[in-house]
Amino acid sequence: MYPRLVIDLKKLKNNLDKTIELVKGSGCSLMIVTKVYCADMEIYKMLEESEIDYFADSRIQNLKKYEGTKKGRVLLRLPMMSEAEETVRYSDISLNSEIETIKKLNEAASEQNKKHKILLMIDLGDLREGIFYKNEDEIYRAVKEILKLENIELYGVGVNLTCYGAVIPQKENLSILVETAANIEKKFGIKLKMISGGNSSSVYLIGKNELPEGINNLRVGEAFALGDETAYSQMLDGFNDDAFTLEAEIIELKEKQSVPIGEIGVDAFGNKPFYEDLGVIKRAIIAVGRQDIDPDNLHPIDSKISVLGASSDHLLLNVNESDRKYKVGDIIKFKLSYSSLLRAATSSAYVDRVYVR
Ligand SMILES: Cc1ncc(COP(=O)(O)O)c(C=O)c1O
Repeated sequence: MYPRLVIDLKKLKNNLDKTIELVKGSGCSLMIVTKVYCADMEIYKMLEESEIDYFADSRIQNLKKYEGTKKGRVLLRLPMMSEAEETVRYSDISLNSEIETIKKLNEAASEQNKKHKILLMIDLGDLREGIFYKNEDEIYRAVKEILKLENIELYGVGVNLTCYGAVIPQKENLSILVETAANIEKKFGIKLKMISGGNSSSVYLIGKNELPEGINNLRVGEAFALGDETAYSQMLDGFNDDAFTLEAEIIELKEKQSVPIGEIGVDAFGNKPFYEDLGVIKRAIIAVGRQDIDPDNLHPIDSKISVLGASSDHLLLNVNESDRKYKVGDIIKFKLSYSSLLRAATSSAYVDRVYVR
């Protein structure tokens, strides 16, 4: 059935081995982030047998699927107060920045006779989650409150960068996290076990030998899945960028002009489009759309094909320059960037999955 996501487990295993070599070789523990492919269970089996330390995901529903794993489970998105009970039940560690939520986790952990670990998130300027690093009083107030909670262990601190603010991790900003941890340890006479220095955007620092000493954990999703570090969008040495590919079928193939006819309003998504006049071209419609992919982050493997646009269920391609003589029913293959992989995996009701072993 098409469209389908083709998952090459051998190529992914190569990326896994390289990620382990890189991250664990630097002395960090490794959380593999599984949300971009919605906790696929074939990939889970591979990860379960590997040397990774944790499965990390932003969705409780995904962590729930890993019941019985030998690895640790980590909830990446700050827990909703309303999911405190499930957070404690299905994760060993959660990332937190709000004391009221941490108190709820404490109550849930007490009811479940557990000690739940948390990483206190520090915002180093990306302006997504975390207590802003300059607000030292707020950090210490939170630590003081956390240490009073019997069923919560302050396991460490963490940072997330290059997500909202696109801030690049560097020795300078990550060193602030290490300093913050040291200050907490000194002030409260405690030892923090984990300093989690970010996601795939921190990976490039390992190669440059610039990951500050003290950072002892990384949370890696995209580098493993798609083979690139996300600070400067460079492919990592020896990784594959095509462990995930998408295949979809041509449902119409016609020669038409390239500029629509009539007064131009807005497209199906409310955008005012721009159309380049290429004259009459051979256009293919394939049966996949914005519900399943992001047309701006989808790359035809036939490099002479270009993406013209998409509506919810249709992707329009210019196949005019291709050397292949396509016909209706032919399959077009694509490499995927992050947002397309995320959507294709999420759209599992409509996008089939096959595995190359
Ligand atoms: C808190 C947190 N850590 C780590 C990651 C993994 O990011 P990446 O896929 O860039 O490695 C994400 C996003 O998925 C995240 O939200």
